[in-house]
Amino acid sequence: MALPPPSPTTTALVTGASSGIGADLARELAARGHGLTLVARREDKLKALAAELHDRKGVRTEVVALDLTDPTARGGLPATLAERGLSVDVLVNNAGFSTTGPVYRSDREREMAMIRTDVEAVVDLCSIFLPGMVERGRGAVLNVASTAAFQPLPGQAGYGASKAFVLSYSRSVRAELRGTGVTLTVLCPGPVRTEFAETAGFTTEESESSLPEIMWLPAAEVARVAVAGLEQGKVVVIPGLANRVGAQFARHAPHQALAGFLAGQHPALKNRR
Ligand SMILES: NC(=O)c1ccc[n+]([C@@H]2O[C@H](COP(=O)([O-])OP(=O)(O)OC[C@H]3O[C@@H](n4cnc5c(N)ncnc54)[C@H](OP(=O)(O)O)[C@@H]3O)[C@@H](O)[C@H]2O)c1
Repeated sequence: MALPPPSPTTTALVTGASSGIGADLARELAARGHGLTLVARREDKLKALAAELHDRKGVRTEVVALDLTDPTARGGLPATLAERGLSVDVLVNNAGFSTTGPVYRSDREREMAMIRTDVEAVVDLCSIFLPGMVERGRGAVLNVASTAAFQPLPGQAGYGASKAFVLSYSRSVRAELRGTGVTLTVLCPGPVRTEFAETAGFTTEESESSLPEIMWLPAAEVARVAVAGLEQGKVVVIPGLANRVGAQFARHAPHQALAGFLAGQHPALKNRR
């Protein structure tokens, strides 16, 4: 089994556990008996989830409220865990968000915060925690990309490119880990109703009408399929048949033509030139 068994001295660290897919990934891991280290900025939401997992699943939980764009805060994680006698056996790089709109009207700070969260933090936490996993000969990493990783995404250019980075990076790191006892799976969800759309600046109507209903899955279902895929040692997990078909189409379609078509469809670009 690719997912290491739980133990009192190890933890599953989940970033972006204060909401959406991350909270449900934590619930899936708790249901398998893993102690959880819940990471995000909103401490109150993390504490509520920690109490839920402890009360309902009987697992050890701790909350580390930090901003993943801050390299010093990220770098402090191993010491915080070592103080509690814990090492990270399962790392879930889930935290992420998107900006919307054309880059020529972008907010520079927000664009860079997106890259720091969606790309830099993923790379940094892999660099921080993989050496210990390889030394112990056990561990599992779940990196969260998106079906956006398979295509250009005008209107969310930096986000699409971030997720393409996470997919490419994850495939390569996974191959490097062969024979070490450590595995890595990359999750590519299609659309999921979480706080994601509102954070990105979509209205509910824009978000609902952007993709067909058949592609939308509940966060709990995405998390269930993701952790099952991690257990099975899958390389890429795309929950939902419609999303798997869509990803295949996006991979093989001519990307410049696809970009032109999508630029005419994206809610953040339509009627806003
Ligand atoms: N929803 C979708 O349609 C969809 C589709 C494909 C992929 N995804 C990916 O799935 C992952 C989870 O998204 P979601 O849909 O669950 O969205 P969400 O409900 O908005 O959750 C995003 C999580 O990321 C955390 N986060 C954001 N910026 C952070 C920062 N600087 N430092 C620490 N934590 C930060 C948020 O916590 P705080 O605000 O408390 O910090 C929150 O817990 C993301 O990587 C997203 O790109 C989502």
